Amino acid sequence: KRLLPLMAGVVLLLSACGRADLSTLNPQGAVAQEQFNLMKLSFIIMLLVVIVVFAIAIYVLVRFRRRPGDNKIPVQVEGNHKLEIIWTVIPLILLVILGVPTIQSVFALSQDYSKDPKAVVVNVTSHQYWWEFEYPGLGVKTAQELVVPIGTKIAVEAKSADVLHSFWIPALAGKIDTNPGGNVNRMYFETPAKEGIFLGKCAELCGPSHSLMDFKVKVVDQASFDNWVAAMKAPAVLPEDPAIAQKFQSQCLSCHAVGDMGGPAFPNLTGIGDRETVGGILVNTENPKYQNEGSTYDNLYRWIKDPQAVKPGNQMPKIDLTEQELAGISKYLAEYKLNYESETLANND
Ligand code: CUA
Repeated sequence: KRLLPLMAGVVLLLSACGRADLSTLNPQGAVAQEQFNLMKLSFIIMLLVVIVVFAIAIYVLVRFRRRPGDNKIPVQVEGNHKLEIIWTVIPLILLVILGVPTIQSVFALSQDYSKDPKAVVVNVTSHQYWWEFEYPGLGVKTAQELVVPIGTKIAVEAKSADVLHSFWIPALAGKIDTNPGGNVNRMYFETPAKEGIFLGKCAELCGPSHSLMDFKVKVVDQASFDNWVAAMKAPAVLPEDPAIAQKFQSQCLSCHAVGDMGGPAFPNLTGIGDRETVGGILVNTENPKYQNEGSTYDNLYRWIKDPQAVKPGNQMPKIDLTEQELAGISKYLAEYKLNYESETLANND
């Protein structure tokens, strides 16, 4: 009886994993599919074992239960070679069925994609609490949203700038730890054949805002990707209002970068208006997908006004800005779009 609430809890927890863009059970691309196939195989074997073991256990409990008036000690059995061989050989066979494809997949999935000239290499660096994506072959650096073309092999080289984090895109690939101290971990995955946005998570407890350390993987068609790379390399666009531009340069660009300007240490803001979220978690209300009547750049404003209230423990200081400067900078960032996307992705939910 005590097990019932526990089981109900597990079912509830599992049902919360239903977001398709955040589910290992919704594999996208060849690598995720292969990992999912292994999960299916081990699940089926486990299910068979559970059914057989429970059936035998229940049968024995019922068939050999103590009956009223039966006070004899049952026949005592010690050792049975035939049975021992059976219950050793069956698990051995199951382990071979599970082990052979697992080892095959481990080798297949550890193929170094970075040697493939058509693959996109991405250096992933984790920070408390954001993600940096650098494309060494393309000379582009961005943050929070990993933009990649459809049907492409992606070679990830992951490291951390501070503490241990873990890079995980459930629908696209298994996770990998990001280590501080120059120890690079590698992971490979393939993007699906159609456009989509997939949610990524930090999967290693890394501080007070660990659970808020989200990112997105935006899979776009090749033409959009090429547009994006070109737009990322274009010269910076600054706020039109000279006073706001001056404030933005002196206050924001000492850490952040836009286009060819600014410091490289903190999240690159080029094209931030295109992003799905602000700070990785707040909906970017300026994004056409989320635009509601009357709401413009309010989450950007909220973030800049008090970053610690949104993501406790992050490195962004509260900057001394007037209401007008705050509104001006939020508006500028919200409108800083690269307009690289094709129609299909913009309409894709
Ligand atoms: Cu970074 Cu958890």
